[in-house]
Amino acid sequence: IKTRYKEIHRPQYHYSPEEKWMNDPNGMVFFEGEYHLFYQHHPFGTTWGPMHWGHAVSKDLVHWEQLPIALYPDEHGTIFSGSAVVDWNDTTGFFDGKAGLVAIYTSHDTYPDSERPRQRQSLAYSKDNGRTWIKYEGNPVLSDEEITDYRDPKVFWHSESNKWVMILATGQTVTLYTSCNLIEWEFASEFGHQAGSHDGVWECPDLFELPVDGDQSNTRWVMLVSIGDDPAFPEGSRTQYFIGQFDGKTFVNEHGDDTTLWLDFGRDNYAGVSWSDVPEDDGRRIYIGWMSNWRYANLLPTEGWRSAMTLPRELFLTTTELGVRVVQKVVSEIQVLRNESEVIEEVLLEPNNPFHCDLLSSLMEVNISFEKRDSTSFGVIFENSIQEKVIIQYDAVVEKLTVDRVNAGIKHFSDSFAAIQEAIVKTENNQLHLQIWLDTSSVEVFANDGKAVCTSLVYPNQPYNKMVIFSKDGITKISSVELAELSS
Ligand code: FRU
Repeated sequence: IKTRYKEIHRPQYHYSPEEKWMNDPNGMVFFEGEYHLFYQHHPFGTTWGPMHWGHAVSKDLVHWEQLPIALYPDEHGTIFSGSAVVDWNDTTGFFDGKAGLVAIYTSHDTYPDSERPRQRQSLAYSKDNGRTWIKYEGNPVLSDEEITDYRDPKVFWHSESNKWVMILATGQTVTLYTSCNLIEWEFASEFGHQAGSHDGVWECPDLFELPVDGDQSNTRWVMLVSIGDDPAFPEGSRTQYFIGQFDGKTFVNEHGDDTTLWLDFGRDNYAGVSWSDVPEDDGRRIYIGWMSNWRYANLLPTEGWRSAMTLPRELFLTTTELGVRVVQKVVSEIQVLRNESEVIEEVLLEPNNPFHCDLLSSLMEVNISFEKRDSTSFGVIFENSIQEKVIIQYDAVVEKLTVDRVNAGIKHFSDSFAAIQEAIVKTENNQLHLQIWLDTSSVEVFANDGKAVCTSLVYPNQPYNKMVIFSKDGITKISSVELAELSS
C-alpha cells in the first residue's frame, strides 16, 4: 500500500481511488482473467465535476490495481455512467473477427445555444484488455431529444433472442432497446410508470436473470433501479429493485406495483450494478455499489480523495416469508483477508451484564449468532474511548433491526448523516445471525445470510476499539461470536 492509502478515514479493504473524486461504478466486465472496474471520476477535484471513467483491475475482486484514466471527455461531452461487454463474436466489426471490449456510456453536454442538458449514448472499444480505448467514430449511437434524463446504459447479450439488450434510465422510467451490433438500436419497451418508487429521478438500471433458491429451472429477472436524491425524503439517494419476467423485449413486474423493494436499508449503497461476462462455469451475479449518498457525497470529511465502493457481493434470489427477495453475500474471495480469528461459544446474556471485548484492529469481520429468549431487544455496539459508537440493535418485539450512527463520529457536514437506519427482519427459529464488516470508515451489516443488508459510512475520530454485546429486559443467548482480523 502506498503512503497515500494511510490517510485518516481511508478505507483499507474497500476500493477507493488513489486520489480525487469518484462516484458510480461503471463498465464492470470480466475478461481474460481480470475483473475491470471503471467508475465516474473527476481527476481535478474532490467534488463532482466533468466526468471521466477511472479504471482499476483485479484478479480476485479484493486486491485492486489502479490504472490510468480510461475515458476522457470529448467533442460529445463528458463521460457519464454506463456499462461494458465482451463482444465475443465481433458483432460490431471493431475487432477483426476476434473478441474485444466495448464500453457503452452516456455522453453528456448541453444542446447548442441552450443550457438544457443533452444526454446521448456512445461507444468506445478496446483491443488491449481495456488499457487503451478508441471512441467509435459514429458517436453518439442513440439519442432522443424529447427526454432530458436519458442515461446510464446497461447492456447485455440475450441469447434466446440473439440480440444485445440495453436498459436505459429515461426520466422516471426505464426504456429497453435491442440491437444486433451495439451500433443500431431499436426501441423495445418502456417500464415503470406505474411501479415502484418515484421519489427521485431513475438512474443506473440493471437487468439480469437469477435462479430462485438455486433452481435453474425456475428463474426470474431482477431489475435494479437507483433513484436520485430528492430533498423531500430523508433517505437521499437509494436503490430499489423489481422481480419479474423478461422475454428479450418486455419486463413484466411480478411482485405488485405498489410494493417498493429496497436493495439495502443503509444510506450508503447507490448506483450499483453487476459484472458482465462472468464465465458460465462460475455463474455468479456479482454486484458492487458506490458507498455514498448524493445527499452528502460532496461533503464527506476526507482529504485528497473522496468515496469508496461497497464490498463486492454476490446476488441471489431466495424465497422468504415475504416472498422472493434479492439476497446479498460478500464474495467468498474476501476470505483471503482473514488473519487471526477468535471464537466464543454459548454465552447467556443477562440484562445489565453485557459481554465486553477489546477489538485489536479496526478492520474486522464479526459474526454473531443470537438466539432470542425473553429479552425485548439485543444487539452489539462498536465504540471508541471517546464514546463514539455504532449501535446495531434488534427489537425482538416488532422484529426490527436498526443501525444507529447518530453518535458514531464526525457528522456535522450534513444534517442527514446522523441517522438510525432500520428494516424489518424476521428471526429464523428464533435465531438472528449478523455478519458485520468494519473498515476504517464503514460498517456493512448482513442479517440472516444477507436477507437484509445495511451499508453505512461512519467517521469515528478514533478507531472503535471495543465491542459490547447486550440484552435488554431479559435474557438472550449468544450461540457464537467470531471475531476475525482482516488485512488491508
Ligand atoms: C448516478 C448518476 C448517473 C450519472 C452519473 C453522473 O449517481 O447521477 O445517473 O450518469 O451519476 O456522474
